[in-house]
Amino acid sequence: MKIAFAGTGYVGLVTGVALAHIGHNVTCVDIDEAKLELMRKGISPIYEMGLEDLMKKNNDRITYTTDYKRAYEDAEVIFIGVGTPERPDGSANLDYVYAVCDQIIESVKQDTIVVIKSTVPIGTNESIEKYFQDKRKDVKIDVVSIPEFLAQGTAVHDTLYASRIVVGAENDYAHNVIKKLYEPLTKEPYNVTYVAMNRKSAEMVKYASNCFLALKISYINEIANFCEKTGANIEDVATGMGYDDRIGNKFLKAGIGYGGSCFPKDTKAIHWLSREYDSELLTIKAAIEVNAMQKTKLFEKLLKDFNGDLKNKKIAVLGLTFKPGTDDLREAPSIDNIKLLIEYGANITAYDPIAENNFKKLIPENIEYASSIESAITNCDAVMIMTEWDEVKNFEVNKYKELMKTANVYDGRNCYVLKEMVLNHINYVSIGR
Ligand code: UDX
Repeated sequence: MKIAFAGTGYVGLVTGVALAHIGHNVTCVDIDEAKLELMRKGISPIYEMGLEDLMKKNNDRITYTTDYKRAYEDAEVIFIGVGTPERPDGSANLDYVYAVCDQIIESVKQDTIVVIKSTVPIGTNESIEKYFQDKRKDVKIDVVSIPEFLAQGTAVHDTLYASRIVVGAENDYAHNVIKKLYEPLTKEPYNVTYVAMNRKSAEMVKYASNCFLALKISYINEIANFCEKTGANIEDVATGMGYDDRIGNKFLKAGIGYGGSCFPKDTKAIHWLSREYDSELLTIKAAIEVNAMQKTKLFEKLLKDFNGDLKNKKIAVLGLTFKPGTDDLREAPSIDNIKLLIEYGANITAYDPIAENNFKKLIPENIEYASSIESAITNCDAVMIMTEWDEVKNFEVNKYKELMKTANVYDGRNCYVLKEMVLNHINYVSIGR
């Protein structure tokens, strides 16, 4: 099928390349010519395991262009996968989505299907279809909602071997075209389950899924904080809970809160929307509040242990990204913690295997960077672990004692076995243990 894809971020690029991989001809549209030139050479602008291989393998079926008119004029299906960032009030900003809609209105020469992959508030697909109908009465543009569930770091796998493909459409024609498009993924070796429903339900599935996961994390973090007060160990508690199939053992890892491009934004967007409907989602409100508090819990423990005085203390921060396997810093807890360390006059040395340059753009001053964990922690008064990178988890813990001025390790991701830290005489503070 001839497909056009608007946006080459995580969702756009990975899905576009995956659709080429299952045999479609895909034109990826973006406004950034320098980025497109990289992609034409098979270089991915984002760090994502397996993506460049797939780009190179399917290069003859993918075109990267700024020429949206040619891309959209005769495309059988046009996907929109641009960002829907958070507005200051928490609501979703749909400006980028509507900017693409305007380009589609300007370009299409035949009936087409527009798939909204961007996460949008319930009812947006309907409004977009009406927008098309008002402006282009000469063609039929069906709007279909196919929410995206990929996680960063495993995006290629999550797309090809998706947990499910949820498709929201309002008529059989649109459902049939999309079913045909995704057919290769529903067969061997992928065997992805295809779930058809109406558009509003599909839009809601995305928010309800992300918010449920965010809620699960905030729940386990709150239980972890309570474990600290009561003397229970959150890891044992999560293990004990996880054997119950109804609860499941995933997303029960306590830490310094969730970050990333989805959970923080989507929880706030649906909470905002629920208030618009005079039907406030109280559990989601609680998840947001717990997460905001959780992000700085580790810093508060550090500050307390240093009697409120971090001036000129040498603090190493290990890991900057919101999770391992990505160079993305959006809503990463490291940002809040580093800002606090700067405010309290600490001398910060940071180490991250891939996100140093991105972090420099975010906070350009007051941070030194180290090229290894060893050099980051040498002569430090304390270490703060923000991301559970493998090399942090596999670090020989005796080196904390050997290299630091005083072995004070504050671990926001529960990377180490408690007993081992005690045996190595490390002052070890983690979450819920
Ligand atoms: C998430 C969803 O998983 C994905 O389905 C959706 O499409 C986009 O949002 P992503 O943001 O890439 O994906 O990462 P995810 O692995 O879900 O982690 C999000 C945050 O939650 C990270 O900061 C992570 O550290 C945190 N987390 C996750 C926990 O603190 N504990 C857990 O048990 C799991």
